[in-house]
Amino acid sequence: MFNRTLRAAVGHARRLPALSATRLQWRHRVLQVRACADARAASLRVLDDCLELKYGDTPMRFNYVWLRDHCRSASSYNPATNQRSLDTAEIDLRVRPESSRIEEGHVVLTWPDGHVSKFSLDWLAANSYEVKKQGVVQPRVLWNAGVYEGANVPAAEWEKFMSCDAELRQFLQNYLLYGIAFVDGVPATVEATEAVTQRISLIRQTTYGGMWSFTSDFSRGDTAYSQLALDHHTDTSYFQEPCGIQVFHCLKHEGTGGRTLLVDGFHAAEKLRQRSPRSFRLLTQVPIGHEYIENTDGHQNHITGIGPVLNVYPWNDELYLIRYNNYDRSVINTVPYDVIQRWYEAHRELTTELRRPENELWVKLNPGKVIFVDNWRVLHGRESFTGLRQICGCYLTRDDVLSRARGFRLHV
Ligand SMILES: [Fe+2]
Repeated sequence: MFNRTLRAAVGHARRLPALSATRLQWRHRVLQVRACADARAASLRVLDDCLELKYGDTPMRFNYVWLRDHCRSASSYNPATNQRSLDTAEIDLRVRPESSRIEEGHVVLTWPDGHVSKFSLDWLAANSYEVKKQGVVQPRVLWNAGVYEGANVPAAEWEKFMSCDAELRQFLQNYLLYGIAFVDGVPATVEATEAVTQRISLIRQTTYGGMWSFTSDFSRGDTAYSQLALDHHTDTSYFQEPCGIQVFHCLKHEGTGGRTLLVDGFHAAEKLRQRSPRSFRLLTQVPIGHEYIENTDGHQNHITGIGPVLNVYPWNDELYLIRYNNYDRSVINTVPYDVIQRWYEAHRELTTELRRPENELWVKLNPGKVIFVDNWRVLHGRESFTGLRQICGCYLTRDDVLSRARGFRLHV
């Protein structure tokens, strides 16, 4: 949808008022330069409305305003902070370079005001739309229960995790790839659980507090505070930005049942995309509201969030967020009736995929085992249980965890 919109916008731009006589000369003027950089041939074509670069396997096209806006010169850009110094609003929207050439692995453009921009060929290739749309933002291993168990992903070990950056880096790598990761041997206290999470990131404050700890005492309005089984879901779907990471630690359980259910939502969604692309697309387009209302002693909350069940990056269709919570889904009143019928069918198809027994990973969380769950990807649930069960945990903000991972030069 985005691509269609983008193309429409570009088509509109081509119908803008005629170019000046000087600029018309660019229309059929093709400047072709060949150079050898990094053992790869590069060639430029200066077209009417863009600079075409061939370098490597993919032809790339760069808009002229974009090139001026992304100038890497000292007066335009601060390389220490990656921040732009120039005022984009000052750029002539019809700007064209006076000259262009390839020189020592760089594209060199001279603008009408005499300013010179130099871009390395590799930088342009890495940042072109054509290359970007072929890659993924975050590499992942999609899994069902058999795949995850077969991978034998090791849990981090508490003492090493707290003191050794290599252990933390490996933990984060596993987390990014699979959407779940474990730390074993953690003392069964709220304080130790807090320490293990703070080793990674900031704790997100929500209506449930920072670190929370509860027993099945119905003390809050949410069904999580009961002994009932919970179908798989993502948490805080009613936040405009659902919490990124969920941390659980079972501090004590004197009773039976209570295993945790984990399902890779992206694995299920990709199966749906393969089998029924129209249903997948619909679930990325129809906005759905979620709502949390709580009215108990000391807790009055009314929170709403809206967004599609499946969220994809518009340039490469890569999934980045699933918002699936049948408990908290609110009244659907922004979609016409005929679309709603198709939406229910698509939702049913996704639910069928999520509920396939082979996709369900069941884990018993004993005291000492802390789990981190990517709440934008992996759904969780639990079986019913008996007896006293004390759980603690918290939410982390996805931005902070990914920032931490980038600090270790992990691909996110
Ligand atoms: Fe939950």
